[in-house]
Amino acid sequence: MTNRDAGAPGDLRIAPSILSADFGSLGSAVEEVEPETDWLHVDIMDGHFVPNISIGPPVVTSLRSYSARFFDCHLMITEPSKYLDAFQRAGADGCTIHVEVGETARHLEKVRALGLRVGLAANPDTPFDAVAPFLSDIDMLLLMTVFPGFGGQTFIAEVMDKVKQARYEIDRRALDLDLEVDGGIDVTTAPTAVAAGANVLVAGSAIFASEDPLGAARTLRDVAFSTRR
Ligand code: DX5
Ligand code: ZN
Repeated sequence: MTNRDAGAPGDLRIAPSILSADFGSLGSAVEEVEPETDWLHVDIMDGHFVPNISIGPPVVTSLRSYSARFFDCHLMITEPSKYLDAFQRAGADGCTIHVEVGETARHLEKVRALGLRVGLAANPDTPFDAVAPFLSDIDMLLLMTVFPGFGGQTFIAEVMDKVKQARYEIDRRALDLDLEVDGGIDVTTAPTAVAAGANVLVAGSAIFASEDPLGAARTLRDVAFSTRR
């Protein structure tokens, strides 16, 4: 995979979430884990769609000088279309919008029109049927394994039924689609998620809250790859 390249759909990837990193030294935190990770997962929260506020386009711009990785921007915001241009200019490579915000087709079209990789996310209690109609219009489906808003929450194992359902449908229709999970992913839960069919693993606290983020990323990667085989 070359820099800023998403890689082939379905490949196993580790995407560290900067939400649990030290915001005072994000650049070096991101550089440190690069050797053992693939994408960079950037959580954008607006205080409306989720009860938390994180970062906006200026931080994405700054991070660009520290990393040439694929920036997987997870937009937990109620009006994604209003800000997509700004994230694209800032250096986002992919933008994932939430199906719960509504007007899904319009938002997805805008992501595509900007030349970004297109992602669609669903909360733990959103049924697969809500995202199923859009599978041929997207590059990645993100199934949240916690309710979005905060890092360090407990993995909701019940979501694995939906992950299996999505994997079955992706394979049955031979769709070029990544299946990402986000929330509570660590060395214990990663094998469960990979066995259910996820191929992109987002991990925040398991990597950045560790005393050895690079070692934690390596261990997570090893565990995920050994489950895949
Ligand atoms: C949650 C975010 C996640 C979060 C994951 O709203 O979308 O990306 O950072 O953090 P952990 O891995 O700690 O659950
Ligand atoms: Zn996220």
